[in-house]
Amino acid sequence: MTDLKERIAAQLTAVRDRSLGYTAAEDDLLVRQHSPLMSPLVWDLAHVGNYEELWVLRAAAGITPLRPEIDDIYDAFKTPRRDRPTLPFLRPAEARDYIGGVRGRVLDVLDAVDLADPDPLRRDGFVFGLVIQHEHQHDETMLATLQLAGRPGVVRDGDLPPGLSAGPEEVYVPAGEFLMGTDSLPWAYDNERPVHRVDLPAYWIDRLPVGNAAYAAFIEDGGYHDARWWTPEGWRWRQENGVFAPLFWTRDGGAWWRTRFGRPEPVPMDEPVQHVCWYEADAYARWAGKRLPTEAEWEKACGWDAAAGRARPYPWGEQDPKPELANLGHRAARPAPLGAYPGGASPYGAEQMVGDVWEWTATWFDGYPGFRAFPYREYSEVFFGKEYRVLRGGSWAADPAAVRTTFRNWDYPIRRQIFTGFRCARTATPEER
Ligand SMILES: [Fe+2]
Repeated sequence: MTDLKERIAAQLTAVRDRSLGYTAAEDDLLVRQHSPLMSPLVWDLAHVGNYEELWVLRAAAGITPLRPEIDDIYDAFKTPRRDRPTLPFLRPAEARDYIGGVRGRVLDVLDAVDLADPDPLRRDGFVFGLVIQHEHQHDETMLATLQLAGRPGVVRDGDLPPGLSAGPEEVYVPAGEFLMGTDSLPWAYDNERPVHRVDLPAYWIDRLPVGNAAYAAFIEDGGYHDARWWTPEGWRWRQENGVFAPLFWTRDGGAWWRTRFGRPEPVPMDEPVQHVCWYEADAYARWAGKRLPTEAEWEKACGWDAAAGRARPYPWGEQDPKPELANLGHRAARPAPLGAYPGGASPYGAEQMVGDVWEWTATWFDGYPGFRAFPYREYSEVFFGKEYRVLRGGSWAADPAAVRTTFRNWDYPIRRQIFTGFRCARTATPEER
């Protein structure tokens, strides 16, 4: 096998181990719906196998459907999440059998396929990258379900580096053009393409994500009770839902506590805040005298190497993510302390852009100029418009295979169960330019 085939095979194994690990639990936990926002865990498990069957076996290799009668059950478009518990989905043992059977055939296809074939599904193993990233994204979703279900046990929790780096509150990004998106990363999604020139005025962006201490100061200052900081929609959301702190936070006397996978603990004040929705992030930024960065500002600050005149796939450069550079891949079930990754800084000096928490941006999810849907409209295009806000950078729960400078995620502005925080930005004043 070629190096690329070996890498693909290793990544397929790694992601499957991860999925099976998160679903190594009693059947009742797997078939139950823990929140109307989420699928039963076993639905996610069989869905990744069905997706693999559709794309690798049927679309790329032309293999006859194994179980066409279950396609509708696992079509995320035909079955909204709230309805999934009532579907006749495969029970855990059957689901594991099914996805194992699909996987065996996928490895046979990998063995035989020509990765230099010009067919865009096969070229550079795109279709394998598609299913690997898709499964990791569902694994992150499963972790969000486990957090909502309050389940320790299947969630591993390792050590992270201490918060060490000191530096300025904000870093400066001078005015100028940069190249946004990619044409060259072989596994990039359609929504990351094509690469295009974007000219931005000078701005400042926070060196680090907003931390729990700073967020607690916003709460103490009455931030949740002052309509000045909120957009009209955000203020309505806050009032209707009676929200006064991030999801999973509770007040005990003078102290903030949080529940993390079923375990109560004091909120670590030196970690990035997570489980805040876009409205909360936006309100905090206004309170702090700043704003959320646009998606373009986020990407330029993360990966643009002005001296070299090109974008880096990761803030630190070309090198694949590793534990000293970023908190990815669920090594621990939490964000690392602020300043834990000085070696992962971007050319402009922004830290923790990748890993720890997804970061809300000010931008609605939409196609880049010249966007072309591939391999199907339902991956990205049907979500374009003024409904979803873009999230960037990946969280501690995201796998390195599905994180890079150009990677785009999106969600409703009210969503809080995802592992999401934010950082702020502001336009440079004339005197600062
Ligand atoms: Fe999916």
